[in-house]
Amino acid sequence: MGNLKGKDILHGNQFSKKDIDAIIKIASNFEKELKKKDSLTLLRGKILATLFYEPSTRTRLSFETAMQRLGGGVISMGSVESSSVAKGETLTDTVRTVSQYADVIVIRHPRTGSAREAADAVPIPVINAGDGTGQHPTQALLDIYTIHKELGSLKNLVVSMVGDLKNGRTVHALVELLSLFQARLYFVSPGSLRMPEEIASNLKQRGIEIEETEDFRKAASESRLIYMTRIQKERFENLSEYERVKGYYIIDEKFLKGLKNKVTILHPLPRVDEISPGVDTYHGAAYFRQVRNGVFVRMALLAMVLGRIP
Ligand code: CP
Repeated sequence: MGNLKGKDILHGNQFSKKDIDAIIKIASNFEKELKKKDSLTLLRGKILATLFYEPSTRTRLSFETAMQRLGGGVISMGSVESSSVAKGETLTDTVRTVSQYADVIVIRHPRTGSAREAADAVPIPVINAGDGTGQHPTQALLDIYTIHKELGSLKNLVVSMVGDLKNGRTVHALVELLSLFQARLYFVSPGSLRMPEEIASNLKQRGIEIEETEDFRKAASESRLIYMTRIQKERFENLSEYERVKGYYIIDEKFLKGLKNKVTILHPLPRVDEISPGVDTYHGAAYFRQVRNGVFVRMALLAMVLGRIP
């Protein structure tokens, strides 16, 4: 099943439908196993290193949980300030060093392309946990797993992707996977935060139907899935521009009541104000189930890249 042994995970475009089928199957098996017992022994003796140069709650903790549930060990660089990065150590020197201790590295870094640079420097698998505004492929895979679980199919979906499409690495990765399943996509954003042109035109060239709009209500009323994203304050050079666009799109109970169609709502989290807490009890609000699914998908990926597929 799948063919990820020894491979890096860097970009949404590296996966085939066959890979995705295999990842879903393996993640689903792990989910079932963890209903029977707390932890497994498949990766006993293996060590994961997490190197996070940017803040994270879900990605780092779910990778660390995944490794520990599989019986493996975890070492973590901790904060940049508490490591030798603060003394000026280069990315490649850091990953070369860490590869002497660990069997697999998960890295998040503010620079687009940094995960590939790290992967080129070491012989062990490197997993991109977010490189600037570039890619976040493991988030996209857990999104796909969640869609498959929630809706029962990945085919011919109509999806609204909403918010900061310019800076959102999660949507940049997810469109690559959705495009394999003939999704029809609405890109809903303020004009200044549109999906990067090279991504949109590449999708169009591959025959994917895309509509870019600022009209969230219209797009939502035609969608089966709404993928909300946060406006990423930390990526703005001009904070007055952030103030102008923050709160541009919000799902609240009133918005949902106005929709005639049933929708499933995903969000990579963290959220700021784009989904009101009152929406959390709506049956289609799947974003905390999505968080949990991240553990099973990351268990699958670790087991696959380390060549220990059950
Ligand atoms: N979804 C996501 O990447 O969350 P964190 O930034 O908390 O890791």
